[in-house]
Amino acid sequence: MIKLKVNGRTRTFKGAPFTRLIDVLREELGLTGTKEGCGEGECGACTVLVDGAAVCSCLIPVCQADGASVETVESLGTPEKLGALQEGFLKEGGAQCGICTPGMLMSATGWLRRGGGADAASLRCAIAGNLCRCTGYQHIIDSVVSSVKGRKRARR
Ligand code: FES
Ligand code: FES
Repeated sequence: MIKLKVNGRTRTFKGAPFTRLIDVLREELGLTGTKEGCGEGECGACTVLVDGAAVCSCLIPVCQADGASVETVESLGTPEKLGALQEGFLKEGGAQCGICTPGMLMSATGWLRRGGGADAASLRCAIAGNLCRCTGYQHIIDSVVSSVKGRKRARR
């Protein structure tokens, strides 16, 4: 039996150990916020945090995450109370068609936790593994920067 902490809650999985993490999250746990794009580790749409590191959940067999803490986009906020990063995406129009958005949010969350800030050039590198087919990267960058600046203002 595989045991994971998902968004702070202990969950177990008794299926095949090589089931992809994305399938366990979406199909077993009902966490459909994580999206599948390519299914081959190329697009980043399926990004979640495993023990704080941004990973492609389409590439990871669930057995590899046994005992780990997994965070999905659902951990960032709720429709009633969005998290700061989600607020930034709402304000700046970063969620365009939305398929890449959960992965962008999770990669940006990992980056901010590692001490990333409002430096757009570094941020572009941090989310380089997340592709947006709408080609609207500027809004996404603006969204993260806006959220970082909003947090700084809130702390003053
Ligand atoms: S769906 Fe996982 S990287 Fe594209
Ligand atoms: S918002 Fe459309 S793919 Fe990113």
